[in-house]
Amino acid sequence: GYDVSKLLKQTGAVTFDPGFMNTAATTSAITYIDGDAGILRYRGYPIDQLAEHSSFLEVSYLLIYGNLPTPSELEAFDQKIRRHTLLHEELKGFFNGFPRDAHPMPVLSSAVSALSTFYQDSLDPFDDEQVELSTIRLMAKLPVIAAYAHKKSIGQALLYPDNSMNLVENFMRLSFGLPAEPYELDPVMVKALDLLLILHADHEQNCSTSTVRLVGSSNANMFASVSAGINALFGPLHGGANEAVLNMLRQIQSSGMQPEDFMEKVKNKEAGVRLMGFGHRVYKNYDPRARIVKATAHEILSKLGGNDELLDIAMRLEEKALADDYFIERKLYPNVDFYTGLIYKAMGFPEKMFTVLFAIGRLPGWIAQWREMIKDPHTKIGRPRQLYTGELERQYPAR
Ligand code: ACO
Repeated sequence: GYDVSKLLKQTGAVTFDPGFMNTAATTSAITYIDGDAGILRYRGYPIDQLAEHSSFLEVSYLLIYGNLPTPSELEAFDQKIRRHTLLHEELKGFFNGFPRDAHPMPVLSSAVSALSTFYQDSLDPFDDEQVELSTIRLMAKLPVIAAYAHKKSIGQALLYPDNSMNLVENFMRLSFGLPAEPYELDPVMVKALDLLLILHADHEQNCSTSTVRLVGSSNANMFASVSAGINALFGPLHGGANEAVLNMLRQIQSSGMQPEDFMEKVKNKEAGVRLMGFGHRVYKNYDPRARIVKATAHEILSKLGGNDELLDIAMRLEEKALADDYFIERKLYPNVDFYTGLIYKAMGFPEKMFTVLFAIGRLPGWIAQWREMIKDPHTKIGRPRQLYTGELERQYPAR
């Protein structure tokens, strides 16, 4: 109801761009996306090549330091992370302060924020050694915090990290292992999780990453900035969609509805039903990450014994959508969340953990973007303008 051009004229040299649909807030050399062509590259390497040949640890190094590591650089990175997995005992006490049924995302963001209180020797954003130390601390400790948030929510004891394992293996053991019982790693599960983490590792200036940069632009430390990013990811329009897809597939299954009937409801916009896991602000073509997850979902689910009936429903929904004018005209394709929930579920994670898994994957991206922002001579404190629509001036009444 506002005359935007009039407000713009009143305010001076500003642009009005809600949702930042057309505003580049920064330059960046980390991740390249061509949404029309369905291309995603980290530091120039195509996502499908990284998914096939790399590991989450190597991709993290690539994003954070700019180049693929040599074998000895990768080994050193891995060892440093293994050495920093322990959480301060007092920080572990933190987990008892939350209600048993707390969602693990706010538990994760609170504990990451609390890292600023326990590790005060790595808070200076302009001291390279301290930045390096908080990088390693976050990479090592965030997955441990995530596993503890899960353990707490199911009422099980917290295990100490086992530093004979790498980051992903350790996370699996801390999530599913039991005290006094040897935990045997399932290589299929480790490989599947590693792949999904690679696919989530960075996605340029999305909502949580922009949040990390905005908070960091005030020179807030890396723990504080990443904690803010986790809270942004918690929102259902961002990281929460993977959980919603599974609920949708279950609903279709339990109602006995045919996928075709569900599609009709979506197209008729009945009660706001959307095909969850479809559509994307940037991709107007097949999300290249979804293509990779889809290709491996069958294989992984048959090995892990996942729910094939839900996968069949998902495949039928996709097949129908890709041939339907409604979806073709709007350029709606599956996004990364369409198939990931089925795999997380087959691994044994409860729905509430799905977005936490996304956060573990996105961590190296947040760190890389924060470090790029701090080093960028063009960085200024993030401070958007506004178009004021309130009362211009009023006199306080004499009483
Ligand atoms: N199902 C049905 N129709 C859809 C869907 C969908 N999933 N997504 C978009 N549309 C329709 C809209 O109704 C609209 O149609 P209209 O012009 O007739 O009103 C048109 O497509 C454009 O949609 P917008 O909402 O304007 O697109 P926007 O770029 O703002 O939203 C979003 C993108 C939020 C991802 C949207 O596609 C959506 O809600 N998808 C489902 C939720 C989801 O999967 N989110 C995960 C995103 S990926 C990630 O976070 C990793």
